[in-house]
Amino acid sequence: MIGIGVIGYGYWGPNLVRNFSECRGAAVRTVCDREPTRLQQVERRYPGVTVTTSAADLCDDPSVDAVVIATPVEHHFDLAMQALRAGKHVLVEKPMASSSQQAARLIDEAAARKLVLMVDHTFVYTGAVRKMRELTQAGELGEIYYYDSVRINLGLFQHDVNVLWDLAVHDLSIMDYVLDQRPVAVSATGLSHVAGRPQNIAYLTMFFESNMIAHVHVNWLSPVKVRRTLLGGSRRMVMFDDLEASEKLKIYDRGISLNPGHENKYQMLVGYRTGDMWAPQVAVTEALSAEASHFVECVTGSVTPTTDGQAGLRVVRLLEAASESMARQGQLVSVEAVGA
Ligand SMILES: NC(=O)c1ccc[n+]([C@@H]2O[C@H](COP(=O)([O-])OP(=O)(O)OC[C@H]3O[C@@H](n4cnc5c(N)ncnc54)[C@H](O)[C@@H]3O)[C@@H](O)[C@H]2O)c1
Repeated sequence: MIGIGVIGYGYWGPNLVRNFSECRGAAVRTVCDREPTRLQQVERRYPGVTVTTSAADLCDDPSVDAVVIATPVEHHFDLAMQALRAGKHVLVEKPMASSSQQAARLIDEAAARKLVLMVDHTFVYTGAVRKMRELTQAGELGEIYYYDSVRINLGLFQHDVNVLWDLAVHDLSIMDYVLDQRPVAVSATGLSHVAGRPQNIAYLTMFFESNMIAHVHVNWLSPVKVRRTLLGGSRRMVMFDDLEASEKLKIYDRGISLNPGHENKYQMLVGYRTGDMWAPQVAVTEALSAEASHFVECVTGSVTPTTDGQAGLRVVRLLEAASESMARQGQLVSVEAVGA
């Protein structure tokens, strides 16, 4: 049985505690939050779980084998490093750390100690995103032309990260998992509408070595909630709408064909193909439940996490490049040059 300690019991922490409590092979031993009022809720719901306001005490707890970190991003690095140095496996929330340098140091520390380091890129564990990867990798969509996502709502204004680090991180982790190519350069623009706070609206464009392009639009100041992603390929196109109760994924057998013109054979005519649309069956298991099981499997066996430290680092590197571009009003930033 893997003993789990969870640090951070705010909005997301309770979901992690619940899923690890229900996970076969795991038992939540200790929950830490620096706010005692948060811990009262843990005591009421989970009478057998120890609570503490000290992360150091949780890391020193011999009944804890693995630490799950669900605090704001600015604390991820210090807490994850503390846990690794205490010999604990780590599952850290997205984004993995505040900089690629921090992310790389965590990877090195975990490797040196032969400990599991996994990042909670939740969407990777959803049935819809798994299906998107399956379709892409099997060539069902053909050549991938674009990834286009809108992730907006009247959201909680974070104080430590801008909206890219809070919302676009989901798209970057989905792209990292689904596609077999990575962005080489990014351009981002965005603004803050609250003095002294990070940007609350942003438009991020990503360029690849191939003929593919990606765009992500994120906003904490939208009157409506939208979670809609399009993945366009030469053969088929996919729409992922996370707000749909069922049929989250729709596959469109639609596209274009290019035919030589009648009068001028060098002039191509664009023809339209409007075939069927269907909604494939996707697993409806809660993503965090699948993820908790996978983490336990990684700790107990020799399985490498699907969303390991390297995946976390790749995502943080893109976020850094995007923030740098945003600070320079959308100037193109090479991903490789960032954090090097
Ligand atoms: N995977 C997802 O879909 C998803 C969704 C929401 C949030 N998150 C991530 O979860 C993390 C937490 O977000 P949230 O919305 O729950 O934040 P939150 O502010 O609601 O909760 C954070 C909690 O951590 C506690 N805390 C902060 N620093 C601490 C420390 N040093 N020691 C102990 N406790 C500490 C706070 O008291 C608070 O209760 C963030 O990294 C966020 O990006 C992930």
